[in-house]
Amino acid sequence: MEKGRFIVLEGIDGAGITTQAHALAGWLTARGRPVLVTKEPSCGAVGSLLRQALSGQLRLDEAVVAMLFVADRLDHLTREVMPALQAGTDVVSDRYYFSSLAYQSLEVPIRWLAQLNAPCLQPDLTILIDVPAGVALERVTRRGKAREIYERPDTLDRVRCRYLDLARVFARAGHPLHRVDGSPAVAQVAAGIARQVEDLLAQPAGPASFLRDLVLDWEGWP
Ligand SMILES: Nc1ncnc2c1ncn2[C@@H]1O[C@H](COP(=O)(O)OP(=O)(O)OP(=O)(O)O)[C@@H](O)[C@H]1O
Ligand SMILES: [Mg+2]
Repeated sequence: MEKGRFIVLEGIDGAGITTQAHALAGWLTARGRPVLVTKEPSCGAVGSLLRQALSGQLRLDEAVVAMLFVADRLDHLTREVMPALQAGTDVVSDRYYFSSLAYQSLEVPIRWLAQLNAPCLQPDLTILIDVPAGVALERVTRRGKAREIYERPDTLDRVRCRYLDLARVFARAGHPLHRVDGSPAVAQVAAGIARQVEDLLAQPAGPASFLRDLVLDWEGWP
């Protein structure tokens, strides 16, 4: 049996990641592919601690948050993601280690974050849903849920720039983040993502690799 494909969706808060994760799952299901949609922070024990930190309820140092994210990621990988992939199920993850690299690097050194995440499985495809911070915040405001600690225009703008810088660093390492314009209507964004996934599915599944296997060149990193 062929292993499932590991597809990650990334972007700033309000970019439409959750919306597109479900749209992509529908697209894969319609093609007869079993799919698991999952998210970070996960629904495990470490994930629930992280949600308290993101809501501002629990105050933790950024370095501690970065470590909790990795602990949650490894827990999520072993508990949910890898068993599904082994069983031939595609996994669509709403955020992954690129979120750690983009958000936490505002406070802690990027090289340290990359080292912490070294044991994490490399996705088969990563899509960066790119929108300006203003568009994302408008969507978050319209959605009406309580705001999280990063949901401020200046912070989201800086995180967006980090994602675009990460796209360049990972492209140099041969693992591009495929940028999709997240500004148009949901169906149009979904079609752009589906095109990337179609290309992935046309290729045979490659061997598993890990973040530690990539040679990341941080030269010129802000
Ligand atoms: N392309 C789009 N055009 C207009 N509105 C959208 C679009 N995509 C998503 N939305 C709406 O914007 C809001 C935020 O979308 P969503 O929850 O998918 O974002 P998110 O990136 O998952 O945010 P968060 O990081 O906060 O979880 C939702 O109300 C959603 O319906
Ligand atoms: Mg979401």
